[in-house]
Amino acid sequence: MPSITGERLLFHDMKPEQSSFYEDTIKGLNCRPRSIPPKYFYDEHGSRLFDAICETPEYYPTRTEIAIIKDNIDEICECLGEDCILIEPGSGASKKVRVLLDALNPHAYMPLDISSDYLYAIARDLVSEYPELRVIAACLDFTAPITLPGHSEHGRRIEAFFPGSSIGNFEPADALVFLNNIHNLVEKDGGLLIGVDLKKDPSIINKAYNDEQGITAQFNMNILARMNRELKANFDFDCFEHRASYNEALGRLEMHLLCTNSQIVNIENNKFKFKKGESIHTENSYKYSVTDFYSLAEEAGFNPQQTWIDKNELFSIHYLKA
Ligand code: TRP
Repeated sequence: MPSITGERLLFHDMKPEQSSFYEDTIKGLNCRPRSIPPKYFYDEHGSRLFDAICETPEYYPTRTEIAIIKDNIDEICECLGEDCILIEPGSGASKKVRVLLDALNPHAYMPLDISSDYLYAIARDLVSEYPELRVIAACLDFTAPITLPGHSEHGRRIEAFFPGSSIGNFEPADALVFLNNIHNLVEKDGGLLIGVDLKKDPSIINKAYNDEQGITAQFNMNILARMNRELKANFDFDCFEHRASYNEALGRLEMHLLCTNSQIVNIENNKFKFKKGESIHTENSYKYSVTDFYSLAEEAGFNPQQTWIDKNELFSIHYLKA
């Protein structure tokens, strides 16, 4: 049921199925190679560390993406057009969209996020910051097929915004499923504005995920602390190290937690023997050349309409027409 919280703010709790940190962890640690789903990075501390990563001098994607949007805002607004419903899957802090909202006049902005309290707080901030803006927030899991709330809005053109190269955190097959889902949502007259990190000299990528202050390392290690705290695990932090490196053959940056000293970890009645040299795979970040990405987008039924790239060719933003 939608709860009407103000004239310009609607909040819909679509009651997404919440996954179990415990079950997902046990399952992932029993696999070979061992892994943990990256979404568990983002507890409160993890989210704060992530924001700090985006501020490091080495991590180029965030600032490059924002600069590309600002430098090309008129053309981007022309693509999105006025009066659309602007949806953002995984909106988080809704930071980057503000650059669009400053220039675009959508019928409504619709942030979609799984974290209900945070989504509500951000939606409230937005309506007070933007006195003309209507916000229709929907709490849902955007990795599952999306059904938008508010059938009364139907018939309006939907434009989607998916920044941050989050598409790179999906396996390519899952990226295709996601793009297909978005394609179904925006139907024939809408489109998708998406930020995608480009393939480039691996040393630039490796530096971005191995910042000198060690914030990315803390972010990666935080998942061990979270398991100790929330699952009563007994990981010894001194036995694990942050590893991030670009795998050129697979076109992806891989993040791992490398075991540097063998140890036995208990989580409830489960026992995990970690050997020295073994690792837990925590995240992938796929990089796409423009042509790589066009093939993926076309496979999902999209028509690449316009692409913007910074002068150093680090990052790309595409507008895809459904
Ligand atoms: N999607 C971005 C990327 O792959 C942001 C990101 C996701 C990230 N997980 C991360 C950045 C882990 C650093 C570490 O770059």
